[in-house]
Amino acid sequence: MTKTFRLAILPGDGIGPEVTTAAMKALEAAAKRFDLSYQAQTYPSGGAAIDQEGTPLSERTLAACRASDAVLMGAVGGPKWDNVPSQIRPERGLLGLRKEMGAFANLRPVRLPPLLADLSPLRHQAVGRGIDIVFVRELTGGLYFGPKRRIPPEPGHDPDELAAEDTLRYSVAEIKRVAEVAFRLAAARSKNLCSVDKENVLFSSRLWREIVNNMAANWPDVKVTHMYVDNCAMQLVRAPARFDVILTENTFGDILSDLGGAISGSLGLLPSASLGGKVAVYEPVHGSAPDIAGRGIANPIGAVLSVAMMLRHTFESEAAARAVESAVDHVLATGCLPADLASSMSDAHKKGKDAPTVKVTGTVDFGKLIAAEVAKA
Ligand code: NAD
Ligand code: IPM
Ligand code: MN
Repeated sequence: MTKTFRLAILPGDGIGPEVTTAAMKALEAAAKRFDLSYQAQTYPSGGAAIDQEGTPLSERTLAACRASDAVLMGAVGGPKWDNVPSQIRPERGLLGLRKEMGAFANLRPVRLPPLLADLSPLRHQAVGRGIDIVFVRELTGGLYFGPKRRIPPEPGHDPDELAAEDTLRYSVAEIKRVAEVAFRLAAARSKNLCSVDKENVLFSSRLWREIVNNMAANWPDVKVTHMYVDNCAMQLVRAPARFDVILTENTFGDILSDLGGAISGSLGLLPSASLGGKVAVYEPVHGSAPDIAGRGIANPIGAVLSVAMMLRHTFESEAAARAVESAVDHVLATGCLPADLASSMSDAHKKGKDAPTVKVTGTVDFGKLIAAEVAKA
């Protein structure tokens, strides 16, 4: 008998619910075609949960996530909750979820097939052969989770002596376990692993580099390079095709992955899988995009491809994952594009390129096109 997977769906705020609905349509179609079984329950998270339950991640939601095989997140946050106390900010709920699930290895693939190179704002020379990078971002340590505090001035001193502190700490064990994921991934791909750090300045980076170098002996097939994070940002724009797997710590990974979105056409394209714990978390890389929320124009591809990652890593159905990924490529190649991508493609038209005629497609319709494509055997 096929296993019934338990899924906790946390649509969250802003465009989160819009893209999650489209992604669930793709999941439904894939499950039907590949005979997979799941039970999905929706729970409030982020700002929506603050409004309903007074906290961005309630015990009830957390318990439901712990009892699931996987969590699918939309996005959290927005101006309405920017000024709530920091312990109950929507973003704090998201970080708590990642930590509680033990999801220390965050895979963020950035893929631009050569056929869609016009979506990139970069020159054809840089992206003509496409982009195919996976960021492995450490997700439950570093500055995000290290001790943080405000240090008040001594009584009677200048108020400007008030200071604030975040701590960037990594243990050997934390580095090893995420590096292991990156080595394994690189070995299964083009065998190039670039570890990104700031070893010229930071103690934590020096330890990071030492550990990665020690581990390299166990992976003779994998070519390991190291790059400073500032240079990496530049190289991603100049020559993204040179990268295969990029391993990096939490904050660097956050920043570089948004850049990954920009060079491949839009942040709205990027999915992620957060693995390593008992329960995997899948979520698009983008946020709640308050500037376009409620207008039906959000790009659902990041969320749809997060479902593809769920099919691969949780359902362990490579065929279903690929069907969803191919469906996205197929629909894009027909010229049906969400608004954010349509603007990139129309730039290609202005340059007189032979690109397909663009049909700007809203979130709901785009989701339907993908689901219909996935359903085709
Ligand atoms: P954002 O990712 O929400 O938006 C950045 C820009 O990209 C905006 O112009 C937005 O319109 C655009 N964009 C993002 N996703 C898109 C999509 N799917 N389709 C089309 N356009 C898209 O980042 P921000 O504006 O810095 O943050 C907004 C809120 O989201 C903040 O509260 C922030 O903390 C939160 N946030 C949440 C997550 C998450 O839940 N994983 C991630 C990032 C930011
Ligand atoms: C992301 C987001 C989050 C992060 C925020 C919302 C806490 O930017 O998933 O990239 O920094 O990890
Ligand atoms: Mn981010």
